[in-house]
Amino acid sequence: MITITAATGRYRRLVVEALLRRGIPTNEIVAAVRSPEKAANLAATGVQVREADYDRPETLASAFADSDKVLLVPSADFGQRYPQMVRAIEAAIDAGVGLIAYASFVNTDTSTIRLGEAHKQTEAFIRKSGVPYVMLRNGAYIEVYAGDLGGMDYALISGTLIGSAGTGKISGASREDLAEAAAVVLTSTDQAGKVYELGGTAWTKADLAAAVSQLTGKPLVYQDMPVEAYTQVLVAGGIPQFMAEIIADAGFSATRGDCYTESTDLPCLLGRPSTPLIDVVATTLKRNGLL
Ligand SMILES: NC(=O)c1ccc[n+]([C@@H]2O[C@H](COP(=O)([O-])OP(=O)(O)OC[C@H]3O[C@@H](n4cnc5c(N)ncnc54)[C@H](OP(=O)(O)O)[C@@H]3O)[C@@H](O)[C@H]2O)c1
Repeated sequence: MITITAATGRYRRLVVEALLRRGIPTNEIVAAVRSPEKAANLAATGVQVREADYDRPETLASAFADSDKVLLVPSADFGQRYPQMVRAIEAAIDAGVGLIAYASFVNTDTSTIRLGEAHKQTEAFIRKSGVPYVMLRNGAYIEVYAGDLGGMDYALISGTLIGSAGTGKISGASREDLAEAAAVVLTSTDQAGKVYELGGTAWTKADLAAAVSQLTGKPLVYQDMPVEAYTQVLVAGGIPQFMAEIIADAGFSATRGDCYTESTDLPCLLGRPSTPLIDVVATTLKRNGLL
């Protein structure tokens, strides 16, 4: 049995679909979700839907029962991620799970990105626990940079894409590629102890702006800003201060090389090159009504 946690999230849902494409029978997949009422579309695929709330440990034991492998993906509840992951790891160990695949972030060993702190702590806790593990260190989602969290409509009106990433290279990848790589790992043998750095072909924010411009036919250039100034622009745009600081820090981390990897783990797992930036940008713009 393969269990995917927080399975109503976008990346996790794609992992379930990739497992099904790889021929895993529906009765061998558990979609563990905080809100079963949001999982009707997952249930419709035939996979088992079980309640699993990281904040309610009593739900985790039954969710992980009979699981051979668990894909553990943190929630987006940034302040709570580490304690949530500890509860889930302890429950998985109690349930006798044979392998935890942890969805981490690229370069977690060396990264200084603020968002990566909980990943560092969680990876360390997993290693110390003794449970067999595989680390899936996902690169940045291209979709997030291409406007899934908003902001690209304004950039296109103003002709300027702002950020604090300088000329830093970002080994971003599509959620779909990262989910497929996770499915490959979850359906392969001998994964215990492996650490995958999953990055796509690197690009800069200027490359991203050029791709959006090419696709939409509208002028768009990248304009870099100091972190503090970028934070204030985000706040002025309605983003809460703590979230604006996280976004600006995540951008700036590219200037320190935190988002770049030379690893070929992603294309190796996929058995093909990762999906090009321009294709993922096109899909994202279409989904958001900008193309
Ligand atoms: N690589 C990258 O660039 C990148 C970018 C952004 C995010 N991420 C990663 O993706 C994850 C979240 O981001 P996202 O954009 O995918 O979020 P998302 O689609 O909004 O999904 C969040 C998921 O977490 C679930 N959740 C929230 N609290 C929970 C709890 N207490 N117990 C169990 N599940 C809970 C939500 O369940 P409900 O449906 O019940 O709300 C939802 O399924 C994080 O792991 C983050 O590190 C990576």
